[in-house]
Amino acid sequence: MKLMTPSAMHALDEAAIKEYGIPGILLMEHAAYHLFKHLQGRDKAESVVIVCGPGNNGGDGLALARQLFSWGQSKVKVLLLAPREKLSEDGRTYFDVCQKLQVDMMEVDKQNRDTAFKSLEAAKVIVDALFGTGLTRPVEGLYAEMIDHMNQSTAYKLSVDIPSGLDGNTGKVQGIGVMADYTITFVLPKKGLYQYPAPLYTGVVEVVDIGMPKALVEAAQADTFSIEEEEMKVLLPRRAMRSNKGSFGKVLVIGGSQGMSGAPALTSMAAYKVGSGTVTAAVPYAILEIMEQKLTEVIHCGLPDEDGFFSKEAEKIIGAMLDRYDVIAIGPGLGRNRSVLPVLIDVLISDKPCVIDADALYFIPELTDLLRIRKAPTIITPHPGEMARLTGLTIAEILEQPLEIAKKVAQDLQVITVLKLERTVIADPNGDTYINRYGNSGLAKGGSGDVLTGIITGLLAQSLKAGLPAMAAAKLGCFLHAKAGDEAAKDLTEYSFLPSDTIHYLSQLLKALI
Ligand code: ACO
Repeated sequence: MKLMTPSAMHALDEAAIKEYGIPGILLMEHAAYHLFKHLQGRDKAESVVIVCGPGNNGGDGLALARQLFSWGQSKVKVLLLAPREKLSEDGRTYFDVCQKLQVDMMEVDKQNRDTAFKSLEAAKVIVDALFGTGLTRPVEGLYAEMIDHMNQSTAYKLSVDIPSGLDGNTGKVQGIGVMADYTITFVLPKKGLYQYPAPLYTGVVEVVDIGMPKALVEAAQADTFSIEEEEMKVLLPRRAMRSNKGSFGKVLVIGGSQGMSGAPALTSMAAYKVGSGTVTAAVPYAILEIMEQKLTEVIHCGLPDEDGFFSKEAEKIIGAMLDRYDVIAIGPGLGRNRSVLPVLIDVLISDKPCVIDADALYFIPELTDLLRIRKAPTIITPHPGEMARLTGLTIAEILEQPLEIAKKVAQDLQVITVLKLERTVIADPNGDTYINRYGNSGLAKGGSGDVLTGIITGLLAQSLKAGLPAMAAAKLGCFLHAKAGDEAAKDLTEYSFLPSDTIHYLSQLLKALI
């Protein structure tokens, strides 16, 4: 789904009003109706306090006050953080209506603020209509105190469009932000809603239509998108009935070292579980026996080793083998001994699509030129530490601007970049970025990345055969991995489920997509 910047959203509102002649107040009424419907499920006698700011977000709040009051909600109170004359034009209209209806409205200032704060304490529901996407500066003074008291209240909190205090573009908190239970956002989600730390503030996010012309929504420009379950079906490579194992791709997993047999084993199993035709694990002789005991369906290939790592001699064999495979995954458990470097170089200079992960990424900073000239689709899957090494930035800098950095790396190296985070970012070299909003803390465990690599590689092998772009495999792979984690957490808790458990949950997710 497209994610909107505040300025693109503003342009959309303007176009609806100017090009289509839809009055802003009508959009506001629709927006308020969704808020109203959401609250209608609650007890009518509950006290609802609506905190309204000076802009159109406050206008949405006033429109809601009218609807709730007219419906018979007995205790509606509006706390206004701006005098009537400072309200937006549409907000003023609703203010006047509410005044005539004798809705309880209070203009909050420094003198009466304690009374206002008391009403927040007594509220059962607080509607946060203080600031929307029009936030332009850090929240301070009385506005900040108001948000602080809203957060202290135990009331159910509903935010209008975006929790007040959050930047609609970056999701960063400007001073202080409302911690909502639920956020109803209008037309399309705002880019900031899905970026950290916003998910800690938004509660559940619901996207609603407010009668914006479809043509405008479809034509809206965006370069950032969210991964949505409903959109995953078309990314799944279909399986023809008349087929053989060659039809679904021959995957080669290159990795492993002494003490690190688990990583290539997880990658191989995950690649198989998403439907690859064959999976071959090329590992150092030192771990060949244990790999053969671990995995039944996977074909094994032992290669010369030195101190438990691939040796330089392994390169000659790998070089001759690559042609037999459709897609390569390299890195899981590979180790950082420089003797593995020739094997990695062989893969990079080959014409094979590949997924580069883990220890293979350790060497990438010195091999970026090889990446840039690759013709075949390439996907890299760094975590913030690996990304820091790749870019020369600190982890803090990566976490500060994950979308921008993933996009820059993808464009600079011409590789699909999967930056693994709480909200993983997938950047296409064409400049588009995707945020995966599935997943949970249970995925933050050793071995999780190896599974992700296997899933993406297995899908990549099939996608390319089915004529789907490599991005389809990256997006669907990230979704399946995170969602498998969510399903595993339901049964086993985020504490207990293991990366190998997530592999078992792939079947039910695939079943839902077929
Ligand atoms: N401290 C104090 N004031 C601030 C701060 C701050 N930190 N940051 C911004 N403001 C002020 C701004 O100066 C502005 O006030 P001004 O108009 O007096 O200059 C005001 O807060 C802007 O507040 P918002 O309500 O966030 O911004 P806007 O008026 O652009 O409304 C909107 C945002 C349209 C409600 C958006 O969040 C939204 O929901 N969009 C979806 C579509 C929608 O709901 N449409 C319905 C209305 S459409 C229409 O009427 C155009």
